[in-house]
Amino acid sequence: MTAVLTKQTLTIRPLSDVMGAEVIGADLARPLDDATFRTIHHAFIDAGVLVLRDQRLTPEQHVAFSKRFGPLSIHIKDEFLYPGVPEILILSNRKHPDGRPMGFEDAGRYWHSDMSYVEEPPLGSLLHGVEIPPAGGDTLFCNMYLAYETLPAATKARIANLRARHSFVASFEGKTKASATRGTLTEEQKRKLTDAIHPVVRTHPETGRKALYVNPGFTFKMEGMAEAEGQVLLEELFAHATQERFQYRHRWKPFDLVFWDNRCAMHHATTYDTHYIRHMQRTTVKGDRPV
Ligand code: SIN
Repeated sequence: MTAVLTKQTLTIRPLSDVMGAEVIGADLARPLDDATFRTIHHAFIDAGVLVLRDQRLTPEQHVAFSKRFGPLSIHIKDEFLYPGVPEILILSNRKHPDGRPMGFEDAGRYWHSDMSYVEEPPLGSLLHGVEIPPAGGDTLFCNMYLAYETLPAATKARIANLRARHSFVASFEGKTKASATRGTLTEEQKRKLTDAIHPVVRTHPETGRKALYVNPGFTFKMEGMAEAEGQVLLEELFAHATQERFQYRHRWKPFDLVFWDNRCAMHHATTYDTHYIRHMQRTTVKGDRPV
């Protein structure tokens, strides 16, 4: 039998003055008709962070909805992929019965744009809050269009043609010591990872707006600049971009599906009381080479 696609009636409400909107009334477990999909897509591009409330999705439905936006990436940490659904990366403090971690427990506890260390970083990520602790574990987002637009004119001129180097290995190995649960990178995983060099200011391919594209998580070097001078400039840009006035704080409710645009937003996971479970499942939609 062919599925009948009916237009869903959606309400879209801004979540802050800075970025973010919530969609009420969508049921992503049902196949989406094109008009409903276009409304969601438009709201995503407009808001930078889109919160779809109360989505009771199976991993397969999560993947099917994500694929409407493009092909999906498979994360390098293959021990944390959902069994049988490798497009889903598990971020969780839940353990397997034998005590092994089920997911990346402390993923993203620093400002970053997902996988900026690849040549064609993902356009967006869709994180499903399957189990949420009673307090904490919020996700912070910052608006990188605003970060760029509010830079002093002299800084804009200075960074206009600069490029910076991004790396997962440099970042992971620096942060590994902080966490016993994330394991180490195998030689095979390291071999698959190369650094990427991207413009410091990128133009969003769908809105045409310029956004700052460096992040404390993975950007570690300005190309063509003395090491110390590059570090000072990077630190200055990070401090500017992560000011509270550019941030939206997402306080999770169970079954929120949060879809963020990595091309114009950074995000940062926060801590929580690990006596409680925080179990999240993420898909990651492939994107273009930043220009
Ligand atoms: C991430 O994808 O970086 C993690 C975000 C979160 O767990 O809040």
